[in-house]
Order: sequence, then C-alpha cells, then structure tokens
Amino acid sequence: MLARTALRTLPSTRLFSSSASRLTKVAVLGAGGGIGQPLSLLLKSDPLVTSLSLYDIRGAPGVAADVSHVDTGSEVQGYAADQLDQALEGVKVVVIPAGVPRKPGMTRDDLFNTNASIVRDLAAAIARVSPEAHILVISNPVNSTVPIVAGTLEKAGVFNPKRLFGITTLDVVRATRFLAGEVDASPSETPVTVIGGHSGATIVPLLSQSSFGKKVTGEKYEKIVHRIQYGGDEVVKAKDGAGSATLSMAYAGAKFTNSLLRGLNGEKGVVTPTFVRSPLYEDQGIDFFSSNVELGPNGVEKIHPVGNISAEEEKLLEACLPELKKNIEKGKAFVA
Ligand code: NAD
Ligand code: LMR
Repeated sequence: MLARTALRTLPSTRLFSSSASRLTKVAVLGAGGGIGQPLSLLLKSDPLVTSLSLYDIRGAPGVAADVSHVDTGSEVQGYAADQLDQALEGVKVVVIPAGVPRKPGMTRDDLFNTNASIVRDLAAAIARVSPEAHILVISNPVNSTVPIVAGTLEKAGVFNPKRLFGITTLDVVRATRFLAGEVDASPSETPVTVIGGHSGATIVPLLSQSSFGKKVTGEKYEKIVHRIQYGGDEVVKAKDGAGSATLSMAYAGAKFTNSLLRGLNGEKGVVTPTFVRSPLYEDQGIDFFSSNVELGPNGVEKIHPVGNISAEEEKLLEACLPELKKNIEKGKAFVA
C-alpha cells in the first residue's frame, strides 16, 4: 500500500501554495479558448508565476489586456497568431490547452485528427525556441497528444522525459470531489490517486488507497468509478454542444502548474499523479503512464509505483492497459 502520509499533495481546499519564489515565465498556448481564458486568470493569481505569455491563433492580446489589470505582481503579454516564437522566448513552463473540444456523441479519440497536428506544430516551435521548457499538455486525446509531443521533441533532438507532462489532474479533482460527496466528508480528507491515462476505461481511480474510499463498496463503488471515468461525458452532455469541461479544467491546470512550480523551486515532497514517460509498464510496451510523480527542480524527480491495489482495481488496470497502449501507439505513428 502506498503510504498516504508520505505523499504531500496540494490541499484540495487551497488552489495555490507558495514557499519560495523565483523568476518564472509561463506561457499558455490556446489562451483565447474556453480553458485558456480562466486558466490565464488563475495563473495571473499564482504568486509563483512572475511573467505570463498568452498565445492563441485568435484573441490572445484581448485576453492578455483584460487579465493584465488584475492586481498581482506578474507581467502579462499577449501574442497574435503570427507571434508564436516571440510568445515562447524565455519561458520556463508551457501549458497547452490549444485544440478542439468534444461535442455530445464524440470520444476524445475523435479529436485526434484535428488536435494531433495542432499539438505537433506547437511542440516543434517549443523545440526550436524554448527547448528547455517544461511542457504541460491539456489538449485531447492526452493519451496520444503526449506521445506526439515526445516524438516531435525527439525528432528535434531535444526530448527530456523529465520535462513533459500530460495533465490528468481533473480526474484527481473529480475523484476527490465525488468521494467527498459520497462519504459526506470534506474534499481535503478524501484525496484519491488516479492512475493510467485520461479517457474512459484508461482512467483508474485507486479508492482502496483512501481510508474513506475503501469504505465504498458494491453498487456504490461501481457507480463512483464509472462517474470518475466518465465525468467528462457528464459535462459534455450538460453543455449540449457548447464544448467540454473548461472551468474545472482551468482549476485543475492551474493546480498542477502550481505543483510543478513548487517542485522546480526546490520544495520537497510535492507528489501528484501525471501522465509521463514511465518505466512502470514498459515491459508491456506501454511507455507513458500516469501514476504519482514527485516533482522537483528538474521536473520529474521520482515516479512512484502503483502500490497495493484491490482485486477490483486490478481488473480496472487490466482493461486500461490495452486501450492505453493503442492510444500511445496512434500518437507515435502520427509523428513517425
Ligand atoms: P476551445 O475551442 O474553447 O479553445 C481552444 C483554443 O485553442 C481556441 O481559442 C483556439 O483558437 C485555440 N487554438 C486552435 N489551434 C491553435 C493553435 N495552432 N495554436 C494556438 N491556439 C490554437 O476548447 P477548450 O474547451 O478550451 O478545450 C481545449 C482542449 O482541451 C480540447 O482538446 C479539450 O478536449 C481538452 N481538454 C482536456 C482536459 C484534460 O483533462 N486534459 C479537460 C478538458 C478539456
Ligand atoms: C474532461 O475530462 O472533461 C476532458 O477530457 C474533456 C472531455 O472531452 O471530456
């Protein structure tokens, strides 16, 4: 069993935490979108972000002008469609929510044809202008877009697996919130580790590793697992054609960015699930996987093993792995 007390996850009732501050420029690519706008606002509020670079093929200068009036210390600059290279100059962290969202009836994989080339082209620009940047991928399908970014950086000869992250924090945020509702506790008491990938059956919540989660059994267990795996569909359906989760994703993206910045600044014990190049299932041909990762001055400091899991979770993992493998291979094939 993973010792929960040994893992310092960000308290779920506080979005930002800051222990030390350095000059940190963060770029958002896709800053004009449904996620990009609230994410930019939240990053403007993060004391660890000292400079914010907002890029989109439309609307980023307007978002930047608006967000720049918020009375926090960071500087904000917006960049138009033809200014991608300028937007990336000197950045330490690049967050990518660029790309199209789902409509009802679509899977995340249905977004592949549009989003694969968007993400590849942005990664190629990062490789050229800011090859040392830490890259945080939000654009779906994450299980494929992260391998696309890796392959693009590899081709350019600048891939460092310690600096590439697929953001799966929304699954953690959902699992934590849904469990809190189920057991009538505060979300600060119900953090849940979620492993695997970011779509349907590849999302594997480890409720057995939570003292509250392990009390949820039978039909209630089946229901909460399904809700965590398909929480994205709930939002897509409710928005009825107007897109997918944006506000909760912006919150999750800002939360993960703050965790990474704390790790980069030398804070110890910052651990959170994220989809990274991982040795955990490499023997089965799966070289990207989300598990608890310790974040440090170089990005990925330590990839934690999955730990003890229940028989139900073993089954969830069995269903996850083949699908995840397919998604990863699709991303790799696109770059190859
Ligand atoms: P949106 O359509 O509201 O915004 C996307 C933005 O990307 C738009 O402003 C668009 O102009 C911009 N864009 C398109 N091509 C670009 C390019 N080449 N360079 C820069 N910007 C570009 O969509 P959204 O709701 O913000 O969702 C964005 C992506 O995030 C989708 O793929 C969605 O599926 C994904 N998403 C992921 C998670 C997750 O947990 N990882 C959660 C929610 C949504
Ligand atoms: C989510 O989990 O909300 C996102 O991946 C968006 C989606 O398409 O469901």
